[in-house]
Amino acid sequence: MKSKDLFNLAKKVIPSGVNSPVRYFEPYPFYVKKAQGSSIWDEDGNRYTDFCNGYGALLLGHRNKEVVSAVKKQLEIGTMYGAPSASEIDLSKLIIKNYPSMQKIRLVNSGSEATMTAIRLARGITKKKKILKFEGCYHGAHESMLVKAGSGSAHNGISISDGIPEDFSKNTVVVQYNDTEQLESVISKNKDIAGVIVEPVLANMGLVLPQKNYLKEMQKITKQHNIPLIFDEIVTGFRLGVGGAQEYFGITPDITTLGKALSNGFVISAVGGRRDIMDQLAPNGKVYEASTFAGNPVSVAAGIASIRTMTALKNKLYPKLEQYCNVLSRTISELADDMRIPHQLNHLSSMFQIFFSNSPVVDYKTSKRSDTEKFHRFFHHLLKQGIFIPPSQFETAFFSYAHTADDIEKTVDAYRHALKMVKN
Ligand SMILES: Cc1ncc(COP(=O)(O)O)c(C=O)c1O
Repeated sequence: MKSKDLFNLAKKVIPSGVNSPVRYFEPYPFYVKKAQGSSIWDEDGNRYTDFCNGYGALLLGHRNKEVVSAVKKQLEIGTMYGAPSASEIDLSKLIIKNYPSMQKIRLVNSGSEATMTAIRLARGITKKKKILKFEGCYHGAHESMLVKAGSGSAHNGISISDGIPEDFSKNTVVVQYNDTEQLESVISKNKDIAGVIVEPVLANMGLVLPQKNYLKEMQKITKQHNIPLIFDEIVTGFRLGVGGAQEYFGITPDITTLGKALSNGFVISAVGGRRDIMDQLAPNGKVYEASTFAGNPVSVAAGIASIRTMTALKNKLYPKLEQYCNVLSRTISELADDMRIPHQLNHLSSMFQIFFSNSPVVDYKTSKRSDTEKFHRFFHHLLKQGIFIPPSQFETAFFSYAHTADDIEKTVDAYRHALKMVKN
């Protein structure tokens, strides 16, 4: 059955036909048949070079052979225990080795669950109510994080979803990213902040990079005020390097969340941090967190195989990702310059995104200034040329280790064509 027919069927049983909103695009999304390496095939017989990459999860590419083989082995001995297993310790030790700030770890299932637990821990240890986040950062679909900046000077958040009582959103304080002064001033005036949560590199309003020393300043300010700093490394973890953004920028957060590339496409996330903080978790501590599927042995096997593979390859893997991403980003930007298309191309390591805008994109406001209608048309032209990037301007495109020099060549041709098509 073709994607169009599948979408019509899906709409009858799945709200909007998709299981996560970002997967929808007009007139209907393609439905996936299979994937391998850097490619993904739809039910209509099209093959795409995949730069969506499971929204960053597939650092090693689709169906990486080490990960698939570890999972197959685990399937032979058990899929779900509901009791602890030795492999959970192995995975935790592998994470701790690469993230020394995470002295203890709890395995959970999704990124949302990890950030929800991180926030609860921060509130639990400080006995304070408010959480400070940065406008445009995404930390999952739970009450205190589905919040945008209000217009008042107190920066109290406003919910972006129905079904969230004001009592939740008013306890989220929202400030602009890359603005040290505002951060300092809001924290100094507000004595009820339990934690600061940040994506060290923002991958959820397009790609936005921290300005020089910004994260160091953030760490300094939170330390001075004795506020736990939560690094949400669901995207950057294992992507900026095996040790994530904290290794890349030399920061020691108090709490960290990891997911996505941690298991190269299986369902697992992690929350970890200082021992004294993590020891507050139940059953010995008073901060409650629990899940039936936490530490699922299949996902744990995928996590162990992913980290071992990334570590073994690291001297080849990260330089290759960076080189490919630099070449593609530079080439796209030159093409757009030649065609006099106002644009910004933000990229770091294996992540990149183009914005159709005159001004540098450094925060939510500047990201919002870009021409999203043009981006939408651009996305469809790329898709027609066999290139799949996330459908939204406010997402990020990702390289995986499976991408090849041929993929880059094909991608450059597709970007050239798509740029031409949206030129006017
Ligand atoms: C930085 C960040 N944190 C948290 C999440 C939530 O993760 P999940 O979708 O696994 O709940 C995401 C998802 O994209 C994310 O990008």
